Amino acid sequence: MTRLNWGMIGGGEGSQIGPAHRLGAQADGNFVLAAGALDHDADRGREYAQRLGVAADRAYGDWREMLEGEQKRDDRVDLVTVATPNSTHFEITKSFLEAGFNVLCEKPMTVTVEEGEEIVKIARATGKICAVNYCYSAYPMVREMRHMVASGGIGKVRLIVANFSHGHHGDATDADNPRVRWRYDPAMAGASGQFADCGIHAMHMASFIAGDEVASLSADFASTIASRELEDDAMVNFRMEGGTVGRLWTSSVAIGRQHGFDIQVFGETGGLKWWAEQPNQVMYTPVGGRTQIMEKGEGGLSDEASRLSRVAIAHPEGFPMAVANIYVDLAAAIRGEAHGAYPTAEDGLRSMAAVHQSVASAKQGGAWVDARPPMFR
Ligand code: NAI
Repeated sequence: MTRLNWGMIGGGEGSQIGPAHRLGAQADGNFVLAAGALDHDADRGREYAQRLGVAADRAYGDWREMLEGEQKRDDRVDLVTVATPNSTHFEITKSFLEAGFNVLCEKPMTVTVEEGEEIVKIARATGKICAVNYCYSAYPMVREMRHMVASGGIGKVRLIVANFSHGHHGDATDADNPRVRWRYDPAMAGASGQFADCGIHAMHMASFIAGDEVASLSADFASTIASRELEDDAMVNFRMEGGTVGRLWTSSVAIGRQHGFDIQVFGETGGLKWWAEQPNQVMYTPVGGRTQIMEKGEGGLSDEASRLSRVAIAHPEGFPMAVANIYVDLAAAIRGEAHGAYPTAEDGLRSMAAVHQSVASAKQGGAWVDARPPMFR
């Protein structure tokens, strides 16, 4: 099978998420990095792209140049990944979708709900793929949890408790460091700090595993480092459309927590627990029974979990391979083979509505508000 042409915007040398995309997209031989505008500095971006094997005429200085250049080509890129800072996602994603390209956008997909609705409308009108990189949902054992819930393995889901809390911005003496400060400055980060950065991964995961959507929420936001305008800690209670109760804690001042993403799903006949730092394992406890450890790669897992696991039992694959699983499903969709379970623009929009409604709720002392985007009410 011929490889698909892949282009990347952002994710330049030294960026946090760029390597995971490059490892992921190219892991299974589906995509080849054919074009890129990788850096905010045009020369650095061109030079780095060529070092990664991109031909000189497709190593672009900025995304507009890339859009113009790729549109003219017969072998134009089949998929564009947007891995730039948040405030640029909307404009770049919109422009490429409108020009007929498939897009994988980093989270958060947009900064406002209105922009999110526009992206959903454009994706629907053009028929192009617009995916959002909620990559944790592509770990094999997360897919196993989703399968167990959907097939009645733990009964109706009563309660989900999710945490995405780390301590890497917990040092008050470092709060003015420009690399940290912007995340809590509304001019740079938008309406929310920590919830928009990490909380939305946990909320997406709750919906993904439960197969349900968040309908309403009540939020408590805190800036525990007083100089911060936006929250560095949040507790969000929510209810899903099917009645499931949700509790979500997200924090960047939880010193001692490293990655800090875990989720527990409690059903009528059993409970499940998954932790991003031990992603190969799910703890399963049937009601009245012993806790069991389910392991990636073991026999008897769902087709979905088995399909997305590459190496034998107990061998770690890890974060870049979860990203790779998003690309596996995107490649299948681009080739018209299957839709796959990649997160969509609709998921990106739901997150933006949850962010803005959490901000509104927190300002009203935790009042319960509708969490859904106006388009889906
Ligand atoms: P970063 O600051 O480490 O890297 C950003 C990269 O984009 C740099 O190479 C920079 O030169 C480049 N860039 C900036 N503006 C550009 C432009 N206009 N055109 C082309 N390149 C440009 O940022 P990081 O942490 O890699 O985050 C990027 C995005 O990925 C963010 O939206 C973030 O929320 C998301 N992210 C998602 C994660 C996930 O788990 N899905 C994890 C980490 C980040």
